[in-house]
Amino acid sequence: MYCIKKVTDDLVWVGANDRRLALFEGVYSVPAGVSYNSYLLTDEKTVLFDTVDKAVRQRFLENIEEALKGRKLDYLVVQHVEPDHSAVIPELIRQHPEIKIVCSARVLQFIKQFYDFDIDSRVHLVEENATLNTGKHTFQFIMAPMVHWPEVMLTYDSTAKILFSADAFGCFGALNGALFADEVDFAKDYMDEARRYYSNIVGKYGTQVESALGKTSALNIEMICPLHGFVWRSNLSEIISKYMLWSKYEPEERGVMIAYASVYGNTENAAEILACRLRDMGIKTVIFDVSVTPASEIVSAAFKWSHLVFASTTYNAGIFVTMEALINDLAAHNIQNRRVAIIENGSWAPTSGGLIREILSKCEKINILENNVSILSGLKQAQLSDIEAMAEAIGADFAPPAGAAQNNQPAPNAVDPAAMFKLSYGLFVLTARDGKKDNGCIINTVMQLTASPVKITIGVNKANYTHDMILKTNKFNISVLSEGVPFRVFQQFGFHSGKDMDKFAGSGEALRTPNGIRYVSEWTNGVISAEVKNTIDCGTHTLFIAEVNQAFSLSRVPSVTYQYYFDNIKPKPQPPKGNKKGFVCKICGYVHEGDTLPDDFICPLCKHGAADFEPI
Ligand code: FEO
Repeated sequence: MYCIKKVTDDLVWVGANDRRLALFEGVYSVPAGVSYNSYLLTDEKTVLFDTVDKAVRQRFLENIEEALKGRKLDYLVVQHVEPDHSAVIPELIRQHPEIKIVCSARVLQFIKQFYDFDIDSRVHLVEENATLNTGKHTFQFIMAPMVHWPEVMLTYDSTAKILFSADAFGCFGALNGALFADEVDFAKDYMDEARRYYSNIVGKYGTQVESALGKTSALNIEMICPLHGFVWRSNLSEIISKYMLWSKYEPEERGVMIAYASVYGNTENAAEILACRLRDMGIKTVIFDVSVTPASEIVSAAFKWSHLVFASTTYNAGIFVTMEALINDLAAHNIQNRRVAIIENGSWAPTSGGLIREILSKCEKINILENNVSILSGLKQAQLSDIEAMAEAIGADFAPPAGAAQNNQPAPNAVDPAAMFKLSYGLFVLTARDGKKDNGCIINTVMQLTASPVKITIGVNKANYTHDMILKTNKFNISVLSEGVPFRVFQQFGFHSGKDMDKFAGSGEALRTPNGIRYVSEWTNGVISAEVKNTIDCGTHTLFIAEVNQAFSLSRVPSVTYQYYFDNIKPKPQPPKGNKKGFVCKICGYVHEGDTLPDDFICPLCKHGAADFEPI
């Protein structure tokens, strides 16, 4: 019997779940099962996106017949040829010989390598950015090599604003009746599995994932349909922000992951003592016994935590077997950008520490503490100081820089603009409404002032049209931007005046709070409505003191800070071509070519002045 789920009015999930699979790809345990997602669009033409693993072929074929409701199948888009998504293609062709297969040349090559059916007579080849119209819908094809195999292609439905993302944004775990990520507590129940999926399946290819994220960041995406796990239709930033971190091998959490291999418990004992010392210093710790916890879980944890400690006994004059497998696995998955400490043990010739160091030294940006702790059989009282020293060395990374406040004192009365950027500003869309005119701008100065009643302050540049609207109406909304927000949101609200344009043009449904003012629901984690009670003229800016009428949360994705914006969102400046000199806007990345920059220069993009430019 078929089991299908509606995605949109004309898109249906026709995939299936497998809870009997012991090991995904023969390697990764999937105790909660896995879903193989496939989607059928019924436009003027019918379009199927990928197939499924052979283990669930019968349910899949029943699903397609039900979703087609007697129509013929016009197109099969093949985004990825790994057999968990392509195994049923030959049978599908036998049942629907009229089908056209839409794919890249690389996909075609791989299909021919895996299967023997006649594809040449039915292939419709597409290249990067090629489009296909199927009636109401137009699709754009985006090559995403090595996310996870070299032939991988993503498909963007520019009509419905859906990204069919192949393996990207996938997750282990069967769907259990839910289809959308917002139907479950994803952060609590599934984010670990999403990270385990990412780190083990595509973790090695961070650069390629970054490249794919860069290509898709320009698209207006309202839904993500991956080949495994949940469909994302809201709070897309929850998963995209994680991919931005993972692809750059940036840790999610400051803390220490300790993995140990211990035969008789003595190496475990050293690991436990170290963890206790670190906890005493207020540092978060997690511990894994590598002989008990599957390597895929520890690889995933290594992608999460900032500091890694490996403690291993020596075995056959080498690293203990399970630890050796883990260290090689981490190196194979391209782990980088971590601080590492090593504890070795051995009753007559401890060698495991040096061998672990040798393997990890070949990984990029792995900073290994100089001094291993080397144990002969069991830790003794006299050696506790070695563990203390290791804890102190790790803890030094978590302490505020010593003497930072005393040293580098500038001249009296000097104001270093860089120091101002250290303030932990958030970034917000400030919106207002005057008559029928909606408007908004980006601000970075929102602060809670009092708790009873709840009052906030906002500072707004007088040059902003929104400023004048608030002065007139005394009302505004704040939409708090969250991590993962694409640069185009800053372009939309920040780089133009609302006097000249409709900043909400193309933004979809007009969501309003009871005060009638629009708010931004995408890429935001909270909304605050407030009414102005006082104003203070601050020269270029007005400080509004306002009482909060309504406030609600939209997601648990962390808020964007100014630092996050500069590190992750603002495009990196492109140097002028040839030998030309230039200046780059520190706010938006605009590059002005030339030997000099006039004092009265105004950035044509973000309208900041010459003071916010620096030479390239
Ligand atoms: Fe789910 Fe790379 O296949």
